[in-house]
Amino acid sequence: MPATLIVGTQWGDEGKAKVIDYLAKETDIVVRYQGGANAGHTVKVGNDKYIFRLIPSGILYPRTICVLGGGMVIDPDALFDEINEIESKGIEARGRLRIADNAHLLMPYHKEIDIRSEEASGAYKIGTTKRGIGACYSDKVNRHGIRVGMLYSDAFYTDILPRLIEEKNKILEKVYSAPPVVFTDLKEKLLALREKIRDMVVNTPYYLNMELASGKRVLLEGAQGTMLDLDFGTYPYVTSSNPTTGGALSGSGISFRYLKSVIGITKAYSTRVGEGPYPTECHGEEGEVLRKAGNEFGSVTGRPRRCGWFDTEVVRHAARINGLSALALTKLDVLDTFKTIKVATGYELDGKRIDYFPSCRVPQLQVIYEEFAGWQEPTSHITKWKALPKNARKYVEAVSRFCGVPVAWVSVGPDRENTIALH
Ligand code: IMP
Repeated sequence: MPATLIVGTQWGDEGKAKVIDYLAKETDIVVRYQGGANAGHTVKVGNDKYIFRLIPSGILYPRTICVLGGGMVIDPDALFDEINEIESKGIEARGRLRIADNAHLLMPYHKEIDIRSEEASGAYKIGTTKRGIGACYSDKVNRHGIRVGMLYSDAFYTDILPRLIEEKNKILEKVYSAPPVVFTDLKEKLLALREKIRDMVVNTPYYLNMELASGKRVLLEGAQGTMLDLDFGTYPYVTSSNPTTGGALSGSGISFRYLKSVIGITKAYSTRVGEGPYPTECHGEEGEVLRKAGNEFGSVTGRPRRCGWFDTEVVRHAARINGLSALALTKLDVLDTFKTIKVATGYELDGKRIDYFPSCRVPQLQVIYEEFAGWQEPTSHITKWKALPKNARKYVEAVSRFCGVPVAWVSVGPDRENTIALH
């Protein structure tokens, strides 16, 4: 049985959770493979709204197993806040959660360092979510991190943890004049944590490949998006993980042989939170209209999102890197009131046309636009492709043509039923 991968094709917030929720009903296991509590995946079911930060949204289906993969950085406080919140709504979570033994634990000092480093960066700040993501991944790469599985070794508490804390305290106190970590407090916290999660910890390469071999259906859930990818995004204004296909494999341990379908989630326009270059950003009235119609405010930080037109070069970049098999085009209804809709169809750099997304010098790009006639009528009630206004269909077809990927779903509202399947 194959695995299906869901990736964001823009700067995150494309509406991945809604598509995951839509597909999870036919899935046995949903795996988050990277990132941490910087994500905010919103799912609306009836009058209930759920915002998932760490736990895959598949948890809403009573038989689905949800895995926090090895590529993640897990803040245990945020995890238990989320478990408690879900369980307070009557959804049993603990028995269906699995945590990779090679996932990294995000500690309070990571958050402290993220916040203080951003403050100290002034005009060069990244605009992070202040959830400690970069600091935790830095420790992982520097081989100073804490893997979940390490909690079960006594030597960790006597040999490794004291050394890690000593090093962190030098940074906290000497670089940031921040209060130090108290070793005994952190040790107690980790000892308590290891009991709380003992039954959830698994070796994901073993567990997931075995489940796939036995015919289980697996959905891989990306957080953030291709343009925030550490290697393929607008570096340094990116997150510290790989939301793209390569990250899905390394962050889950699933063999590439099982990966049969990669679905790119893309908004019918575009948004970005935080700092960094954004070629099709609308600074004036149009940006305001998009922000208001799309309710474009961060679900984790509440920050207003920057809004702009659809950029086909961005989505083509995502299609190339991720090997997209299909697109799910979300929030088409947000464009309902526009008389004309702009789409970026290419760039010029140094006066020459280029047909790729450059790794550097993005602020120097000149954007080439094409204009489409709007449809100026509501679409949220529509459930069939043929019932969409002609200009809306033309727009969707143009997006598909420009990006070279078929559009398989169009979403016209936040609810499960506001989804149109094209095939
Ligand atoms: P970090 O992941 O908190 O380090 O933030 C790095 C950049 O990624 C910032 O510009 C954030 O606004 C952005 N970012 C991180 N997570 C998300 C997300 O889930 N949606 C949109 N942007 C995100």
